[in-house]
Amino acid sequence: MRHPAIHIVPPRGRLGVMLVGLGAVSTTFVAGVAAIRKGLAQPYGSLTQLGTIRLGKRAERRSPLIRELVPLASVEDLEFGAWDIFPDDAYRAAAHAGVLDPALLERLRGDLEAIRPWPAVFDRRIVSRIDGPNVKRAAGKRELVEQLRADMRDFIRARSLDRAVVIWCASTEAYCEQGPAHATTAAFEEALDADDPTLTPIMLYAYAALMEGLPFANAAPNLGVDVPALTELANERHVPIAGKDLKTGQTLLKTIIAPGLKARMLGVRGWYSTNILGNRDGEVLDDPACFRTKEVSKKGVLDYLLQPDLYPALYGGLCHQVQINYYPPRGDNKEGWDNIDLFGWLGYPMQLKINFLCRDSILAAPLVLDLALFLDLAQRSARSGIQEWLSFYFKSPMHAPGLYPEHDLSIQLKKLKNTLRHLKGEELVTHLDQEYGD
Ligand SMILES: NC(=O)c1ccc[n+]([C@@H]2O[C@H](COP(=O)([O-])OP(=O)(O)OC[C@H]3O[C@@H](n4cnc5c(N)ncnc54)[C@H](O)[C@@H]3O)[C@@H](O)[C@H]2O)c1
Repeated sequence: MRHPAIHIVPPRGRLGVMLVGLGAVSTTFVAGVAAIRKGLAQPYGSLTQLGTIRLGKRAERRSPLIRELVPLASVEDLEFGAWDIFPDDAYRAAAHAGVLDPALLERLRGDLEAIRPWPAVFDRRIVSRIDGPNVKRAAGKRELVEQLRADMRDFIRARSLDRAVVIWCASTEAYCEQGPAHATTAAFEEALDADDPTLTPIMLYAYAALMEGLPFANAAPNLGVDVPALTELANERHVPIAGKDLKTGQTLLKTIIAPGLKARMLGVRGWYSTNILGNRDGEVLDDPACFRTKEVSKKGVLDYLLQPDLYPALYGGLCHQVQINYYPPRGDNKEGWDNIDLFGWLGYPMQLKINFLCRDSILAAPLVLDLALFLDLAQRSARSGIQEWLSFYFKSPMHAPGLYPEHDLSIQLKKLKNTLRHLKGEELVTHLDQEYGD
């Protein structure tokens, strides 16, 4: 299947990446980009930097880098800005996060010290475990939005940027159900003027970004740009959006392993997942209201992947438990354990144990880079609204209303690559057997 190539505006000039939250993930991302630019590191973990894409039939042996196929902004052309409730510049924030080696941070000091966070829009009722002095004061939520919009415009003007994207990498907000204020853009705007408490900080950042025409992604699991009011606004203003909750450690492995078990028609009676984590994210998630947000995001995955409604004998009544325990000594080095109780032929039971000693922000940082570059590509390709092809990056992928999300990592990657082929008018890869003969 071949379509004409879509017009993509070339990535001229510089791309601003505005990060909400300058914590472990954000600082590991910006420090990583600085290290890559200086030739001190390789962009491991980043599909936009290292990934290739097969074009045409297998016999043609055409597999350029993804960044050779589609015109992406270069890491050299990124400029960073951030908001945080703490005034620490990115060097101090990175040192506090404790992810990267102090010797490496020292070599990047100049680049990192230049990134000083703007005062944040923060609400202690939504994130209660932390508090900081670097917050905006305003008469109401409408004025807070205006201040955020001014930050965005000032940053773009001061750095002479061509384009910008906004990515929420701030603490997970408390669990909140979708309400009437989130239903339509009109209701949202009324609620904004009425200082409705159900409009949480992320929604104000997202609204501000969309009003400025800036793509927005949510790296955290809380409700945000996925409420109908904001997806409607994104469509109306022709701005791409993506989310939510970066798929990094335990859930990444779940979305690799569960489809494999299902492909072989192996049953699963129980899946027990637990983690220890000692960073600030772990501290925030220690609050039951914030953990509830994460739990919902982490638990949904298996239901969709294993389809118990289609396979009741294999997966009906599956017991799925997820825990995150805040354990400061480990810092950002999360340890996850999974115990899977599965069964095979004649119902004979088996167990699979996984012990993943991972590094949370090391896994997350390259995803933030890819999201920034792909959202910018989406905007230059005149794509707007939910970018389902970016599901690859998320635990709770945003999707069109009435559809279920796609969680299987290999299907997500096929979807992403076929979208890139489609943009460039290349033949889609269908994996049909008859390709051998073509
Ligand atoms: N690291 C991963 O593997 C991973 C995976 C999925 C999701 N996430 C999510 O990404 C987010 C960031 O993770 P992290 O490890 O960097 O956390 P972190 O606690 O180190 O950083 C979050 C930062 O956000 C700031 N902040 C909180 N509320 C804010 C607001 N309203 N405006 C501006 N700044 C605000 C905090 O002060 C903090 O500096 C978390 O929500 C986390 O759950 C991380």
